[in-house]
Amino acid sequence: MELPKLSIEDLKKIKEREMARMTLREGEHRAKIVVHMGTCGIAAGARKVMEAFLEAVTESGARDVVVTQSGCAGLCNREPMATVEIVEKAPVKYVDLNPEKAKRIFQEHIQGGQVVEEYALGRGSESTAG
Ligand code: FES
Repeated sequence: MELPKLSIEDLKKIKEREMARMTLREGEHRAKIVVHMGTCGIAAGARKVMEAFLEAVTESGARDVVVTQSGCAGLCNREPMATVEIVEKAPVKYVDLNPEKAKRIFQEHIQGGQVVEEYALGRGSESTAG
């Protein structure tokens, strides 16, 4: 019996997916913040947003929150963007971010459990309306 052939790209994707899952499980992280750092994300200020999240996590002393980065999310005109994943909750995508918004998201969503609807992209949809 022959095994299906997987391309290097397939293998990379599988590995990335597995690693993302493992960080949440193994590290016992309660929440994960993914800042999208594609070309236009960076141009729009994603680095500052990333720094703001890291600062917020450090200042709060939270040990169960990871901040990480990923490639572009495919919505150039809504950058900077970040996705917040809380264990066992649907991920929420935030758009048009800046450091102040990042801090508020950290306080209200990550720590307080309340999605900041004002900054969130329609949940469960990839629509850019609104
Ligand atoms: S480079 Fe713009 S969304 Fe990816």
